[in-house]
Amino acid sequence: MCPSTGSPDRAEELRQLLEAVTARVVPYVRAADEPAARIGDPISPKKLSTLIGSDLVLPEKGRGMDDFLIVLDQILKYSVVTWHPGFMDKLYASTNPIGVATDLLLSILNTNAYIYSVAPVLTLIEINTSREYARLFGFTGEYAGGLTLPGGSASNTHSMIVARGTLYPDTKVSGNGDYRFVIFTSCHGHYSVEKAAISLGLGSEAVWTIPVDEDERMRVDVLEQRILEAKAQGRTPLYINATAGTTVYGSYDPFTEISTVARRHNVWFHVDGSWGGNVVFSDKLRHKLQGVELADSITANPHKMLGVPLTCSFLLAPDRRVFQKASSLRAPYLFHNDEIDGDDYDIGDSTMGCGRRADSLKLFLGWKWYGKEGYALRVEQAYNVTAHLASLVATRPGFHLVSTNPPPCFQTCFYYSPKGDLSGDPEENTRITRAIAYQLQACGRFLVDYAPPAGKKGNGEFFRAVVNAQICTKEIVEELVDTIEKIGKTL
Ligand SMILES: Cc1ncc(COP(=O)(O)O)c(C=O)c1O
Repeated sequence: MCPSTGSPDRAEELRQLLEAVTARVVPYVRAADEPAARIGDPISPKKLSTLIGSDLVLPEKGRGMDDFLIVLDQILKYSVVTWHPGFMDKLYASTNPIGVATDLLLSILNTNAYIYSVAPVLTLIEINTSREYARLFGFTGEYAGGLTLPGGSASNTHSMIVARGTLYPDTKVSGNGDYRFVIFTSCHGHYSVEKAAISLGLGSEAVWTIPVDEDERMRVDVLEQRILEAKAQGRTPLYINATAGTTVYGSYDPFTEISTVARRHNVWFHVDGSWGGNVVFSDKLRHKLQGVELADSITANPHKMLGVPLTCSFLLAPDRRVFQKASSLRAPYLFHNDEIDGDDYDIGDSTMGCGRRADSLKLFLGWKWYGKEGYALRVEQAYNVTAHLASLVATRPGFHLVSTNPPPCFQTCFYYSPKGDLSGDPEENTRITRAIAYQLQACGRFLVDYAPPAGKKGNGEFFRAVVNAQICTKEIVEELVDTIEKIGKTL
């Protein structure tokens, strides 16, 4: 008997809870598709605290179902609705029904995917899913594959650990020593690369940023010059991060050329495809990744472009055994198995962590549900809607497109100026962008973020509208442009 709900057994308690949740979340998702649906009002932490503060107090005695339902309603009421078609915030949106079902299954199983003996099925699923995923990227060897990590930042960090441990195995025992490693990334690289360098004890100073060309792609000529400079200073070039879909502009670095430089100087070549890597599912868009198969490691996040539930990120390699070699301590109180059939199935030993959620199941079941074809359609539609938005912005008076037309990935960067011509004053442009972005959410229809210019393009903060969910259609982005114009004229 559950003391708080009075239900006779835990299965019955689960049934009651699931029934209560289902009765609320199904209408919640349905409502997101209705024309009058609101995305969630902007609200300050202070105001929110006054509204829900009493529900945040943790009790001495269990409150059971009554409080659960009150809190559940409050959470749904005040959360941003990622299922809303106007959710065009940064680089992700809602999951989908199969994603929810899979997350529930993972919670029921509560499998810890660190050792085979407690996670036999999910271990095989992780190995097989990462092998198939790696194959899409062009890693075709016998040991091609990888593992999941808790996010793109974690995958990038782990790739740097693996790079150091593979190229300089002595560092696993003696640390960075006198190597004075240098990391290279374009000025559009994600901040996780710098954080990784901090985590590895290299410091921010070890990250040398490389300028970009007019298409926001890493300048490979400068990359090589900087590698030579590092060597001339007695430093050790360790790792190049190239990006497939940069965070602000969505640009794809020139992987083939970067790989040539990396090989020439014995530097690890990582591709951060956290955002843009999943165009790999589309035969029409895969060309953006040309040369990606030459990488030593790739990060790819199904939880961004594919709508797989957070978190789901893979680190892939042509030979996944490098992960274990660089990370393993074979702690005897956890890892009892030696290799099985010449392979290692205790995946946790290939990470710097211990307990792990079996995130691969979320891609596996999503892929089974939609097929490669379904994911291809999803990314192609997002690309087409993005191109439509960019062409609207390029031609409408008062709008100023910053992205190329069409944009390389699914974000469109642009300004709106009520006066027509864009002001030469970056602060004025930033003020307008922020005011409109706030009003877009306040009117209940859109969540669109903004970003400061990085590299050489831009004049103050601009909109970065991301077409991510499959439900974000051409009609929705037309409404976005109309709404921005309407709000802008009132400023
Ligand atoms: C290019 C790139 N790399 C890495 C990340 C970090 O991914 P995550 O949020 O999964 O840690 C992001 C996030 O937007 C990104 O855009």
